[in-house]
Amino acid sequence: MMQRTHGCGDLRSEHAGETVVLAGWVNTFRDQGKGLVFIDLRDRSGISQVVFDLEDCDDATVEIARSLRREDVVAISGLVRPREGKANEKLATGHIEVMGQAVEVLNRTDNPPILPDDHEAEKISEEVRLTYRYIDLRRPRMQEIMRIRHDVARITREYFDEQGFLEIETPLLIKSTPEGARDFIVPSRIYPGQWYALPQSPQIFKQILMVAGCDRYLQICKCLRDEDPRADRQAEFTQIDLELSFVNRDDVLEIMEGFMREVFKRVLDHDLGEIPRMPWSEAMDRFGSDRPDLRFDLELTDISALAAKTEFKVFTDALAKDHGIVKAMRVPGGAEKFSRKVTDGYGELAKLHGAGGLPTVKYTDNGFETGIAKFLTDIGDELVSTLELEPGDAVLFTADRQEIANTALGTVRLKVAEDLDLVPKGVYRALWVVDFPMFKWDEDNKRWASEHHPFTAPRADQLDILESDPGGCLSDGYDFVVNGSEAGGGSIRIHNPEVQKTVFSLLNLSDEEAKLKFGFLLDALRYGAPPHGGIAFGLDRLVMLLAGTDNIRDVIAFPKTQSGGDMMSQAPGPVDAAQLDELQLRVIEQAPA
Ligand code: AMO
Repeated sequence: MMQRTHGCGDLRSEHAGETVVLAGWVNTFRDQGKGLVFIDLRDRSGISQVVFDLEDCDDATVEIARSLRREDVVAISGLVRPREGKANEKLATGHIEVMGQAVEVLNRTDNPPILPDDHEAEKISEEVRLTYRYIDLRRPRMQEIMRIRHDVARITREYFDEQGFLEIETPLLIKSTPEGARDFIVPSRIYPGQWYALPQSPQIFKQILMVAGCDRYLQICKCLRDEDPRADRQAEFTQIDLELSFVNRDDVLEIMEGFMREVFKRVLDHDLGEIPRMPWSEAMDRFGSDRPDLRFDLELTDISALAAKTEFKVFTDALAKDHGIVKAMRVPGGAEKFSRKVTDGYGELAKLHGAGGLPTVKYTDNGFETGIAKFLTDIGDELVSTLELEPGDAVLFTADRQEIANTALGTVRLKVAEDLDLVPKGVYRALWVVDFPMFKWDEDNKRWASEHHPFTAPRADQLDILESDPGGCLSDGYDFVVNGSEAGGGSIRIHNPEVQKTVFSLLNLSDEEAKLKFGFLLDALRYGAPPHGGIAFGLDRLVMLLAGTDNIRDVIAFPKTQSGGDMMSQAPGPVDAAQLDELQLRVIEQAPA
């Protein structure tokens, strides 16, 4: 085989006059019938144009050159020369071409079911692309994303190594973890009827590593949660997982902020600028979300006091509820842009998030019009000044319990921004969301549930209300949010076994249950646990942000589909009866096909 001398994307004008050997895939093939064959040859580094002038080639070369098809794998030797005709400014190699002298077929391809063409990719169903992932991954865009992913992993290891972190692996076959999703479980052959769980995260192990004196831990690890995939969620995903001893919240945030700055700087040459810290309650009040997208201005305003002065039943009924509230969002220019159909659509979206509806009104030179205008006569002027309305604006309202009113309007906020094209491109707005509540009320099961996870510590100044007012108690948890995506989350942990016990009992976990589930952590906490805290970043989500895609499957080499299957390997699939026998398992009901 001819030994390649350069990557297909490496050649530049200064290589003119050199004889080179390239190897790769035939990206495009044109036989112009005038004795010239053009081939764009592609490998990971890029594309070079190769021209065979058949008159100058021997018979064997002519025969091969004419027989090539897209995606055949070949090695070509030839002479680099300045490109004849116009340079192709879109290609890094666009100023040169290679005059082909010899070609060797390294492998022919069957007729490819798809072609690795970025421009065509959108037109091909994603399932087909995932089935032939090895062809789809050849696309320049996918190769670029895999490179970004590699860079993030490399920068992670370099940054944290400098900060004194050790990379330590934790087991995959474990007892259940506490992240609150459904476990994937694995049957034990040696202990029939017993099961391992796959880790939803290394949470307990990393805390135990702190008790073990490891001081600063890092792991780039797979986490497995049996939940339905979404645009930014996979059942199998990767975390950059970190834990530190003898630190308080600000120590952790400082180190992690440094890490994020480094990643954005080195991958995108982007300075993240100031990274504000916003209390959870402020994020919910102003943006209706615990991961606010700060790239655009739309904000929510509490107008309960004004709403109480109206006779609008939707408002007054909501205000009569426990934690009832009325929120309003001014949409500049919305009066003209919002047709009835559009606002009805927003209403449906609000309903999906628990709101009864989404009253709207337009503000014009003639005052309030349409929608609920007639109910606003008494508060008109005050509303205009509170929301700083200008003619041409629209106002959208939610009225409900605080949580519902905020999240419903917060969700509509995102859709409005998208529809009105308010989301600037190439802008990254990061923030820390801090001071989360310790618990959220689980209405279905009538009990408290952890907002982060059960090992998250209450803020030191909140310890005295932990038991008396669990709903009002704030935690020492934090999330790192970029452009409305939760890129990471963590907390200072409880290192006092008594506080841990109290939290378990507030979560309705009996001593026995806690012992059964997390006994080994409780034991470890009793043997000299240092104060500690940590965080995990979602590597896939970070790469999504850096690569500018909103589909998590784009950043994972072999992702699962929406229904959790691997199109290429056809997992999940049946296993041999013998394997089941060995595990003493029997399938009692076939899942519907
Ligand atoms: P958490 O569950 O918040 O915390 O996860 C941390 C980060 O991981 C990412 N992430 C996901 N990415 C893709 N698909 C998923 N299904 C998925 N779930 C989470 C998010 C999230 O911010 N043990 C704690 C961390 C800690 O307290 O140190 C944990 O796992 O970006």
